[in-house]
Amino acid sequence: MAVQRTLAIIKPNAVERALVGAIVGRIQEAGLRILALRMMRLTPAQARTFYDVHRDRPFFEPLVAFMTSGPVVVLALEGEDAIRRWRELMGATDPAQAAPGTLRALYGEDVRRNAVHGSDGPETADRELSFFFPACDLA
Ligand code: RTP
Ligand code: MG
Repeated sequence: MAVQRTLAIIKPNAVERALVGAIVGRIQEAGLRILALRMMRLTPAQARTFYDVHRDRPFFEPLVAFMTSGPVVVLALEGEDAIRRWRELMGATDPAQAAPGTLRALYGEDVRRNAVHGSDGPETADRELSFFFPACDLA
C-alpha cells in the first residue's frame, strides 16, 4: 500500500469541548504524520463549497450551519494507507453505529455533530487538501 495524504477536520463540537489535544494524540499514536495543521473558522460559502457533493441532501443547510458554528482544526495527514486508516480511527458517520473506541463513538454527539471529518478517497483527498493548504505547506 502506497503512502497517501488525507484531510482531517476536528469539527466545531469537538473544538468547543476541548478535545483537540485528545484527537491529535490519537492521530499521532496511530502513526499518522501531521504535515500541516491550522485552526480557522469556516465561512458559510467555504462550508457550502467544501460539502458541495451533499448540496441536494436534506441535511445540507444544517450541516453548513454546524460547520460554521465555531472554529475547526484542519490537518493534512500522511502515512501508508492513510485515507482508510484515518476513516477507521474516526468510525462510522453515525456515532451510534461507530465501533467502540473510535473517535466518533467516543466524542460524537449525533449523526451531524460527529466530531471529525476525513477524506473518502484519493481524489477527494487531493481536492480537500488543496482547498485548505497551499502546496508550499505540504512540501
Ligand atoms: P465526513 O465527510 O464529514 O468525513 O463524514 P462521512 O464521510 O462519514 O459522511 P458524509 O455522508 O460525507 O456526510 C458528511 C457529514 O454530513 C453530516 N451528516 N448529517 N442524516 C444527517 O443528518 C447527516 N448525515 C450526514 C455529518 O456531519 C457527516 O459527517
Ligand atoms: Mg464524507
